Amino acid sequence: MRLSVHFLSLLTLLVGASASPANLDKRQGSCACGYTDSNGNLWRESVVSDFTASAGALSVLRNDWYVETWGAQHTAMGVAKYNDALGLMTSAYNGNGTTYVAEIQSHRNDILYGTFRMRAQVPSIPGVCFGFFTYKSDTEETDIEFLSSDPTYYNTVHYTNQPHTTQEVQVNGADFTAFGDHRFDWLPSATTFYYNNQKEATITANVPTVASNFLLNVWSDGDPEWTQGPPTSNAIATVQWVELYFNSTSLSESSFVSACNAAGNPAACQI
Ligand SMILES: *[C@@H]1O[C@H](CO)[C@@H](O)[C@H](O)[C@H]1NC(C)=O
Ligand SMILES: *[C@@H]1O[C@H](CO)[C@@H](O)[C@H](O)[C@H]1NC(C)=O
Repeated sequence: MRLSVHFLSLLTLLVGASASPANLDKRQGSCACGYTDSNGNLWRESVVSDFTASAGALSVLRNDWYVETWGAQHTAMGVAKYNDALGLMTSAYNGNGTTYVAEIQSHRNDILYGTFRMRAQVPSIPGVCFGFFTYKSDTEETDIEFLSSDPTYYNTVHYTNQPHTTQEVQVNGADFTAFGDHRFDWLPSATTFYYNNQKEATITANVPTVASNFLLNVWSDGDPEWTQGPPTSNAIATVQWVELYFNSTSLSESSFVSACNAAGNPAACQI
């Protein structure tokens, strides 16, 4: 779910024209025949961002992501290196003026099905939503979301295919304020959600069907039914890495097979 979609749609239009399968060059090596996930699904392409790398989180970020600066609330201030990883922050509301939020969006806007993973810590300051999601429009979107104002925010997660097909899951014994692996797989038949490699939910209604961007954000709009807030201290999500393995509308099956053949048909990489 988003603060406002209008500006994002505009941004997507503006940047969309120059999008290309940028990662193709990077994976000419051993993964030229794609990636096989734990369910046996094959994916052609990847975006792998290790924000703990020595190059620094913002340097890694720039390779594959835009920092969103649209509207009054989105500034680059909330996206920074933090604890040797990437920090996404909604800053403390000072009682007057604007609550500043953080959002990053993949360069790729052509992602159509895949498996998407991150290792992250959720914010523990009440009043924000931390989102990890595919997005094309309000009705073509799949989300993993954490609400820091949930009474049991440390083990409650909201899994959604928009519009409004949500499962709220409380994971017994989990502590999302410690680093953990959050994942969803987007297939034509369903979206399936995982925490630390355990399946938590499957949603078969309203599965998105169009090429999309991938985004992460930490935001607040004061909605008493959702983010609550605004936060009175800085609310920060810490992201060590994001891995997107996917098919796109830019790299066809036949181009993929040709590239795999040209590389000598190595086995697909296991992910
Ligand atoms: C709140 O912001 C407005 C506009 O910047 C300013 O005029 C006003 O004095 C501020 N109020 C407080 C209590 O800081
Ligand atoms: C993704 O691409 C692979 C390789 O071309 C193909 O086998 C697979 O069916 C595709 N997956 C989906 C969900 O389209």
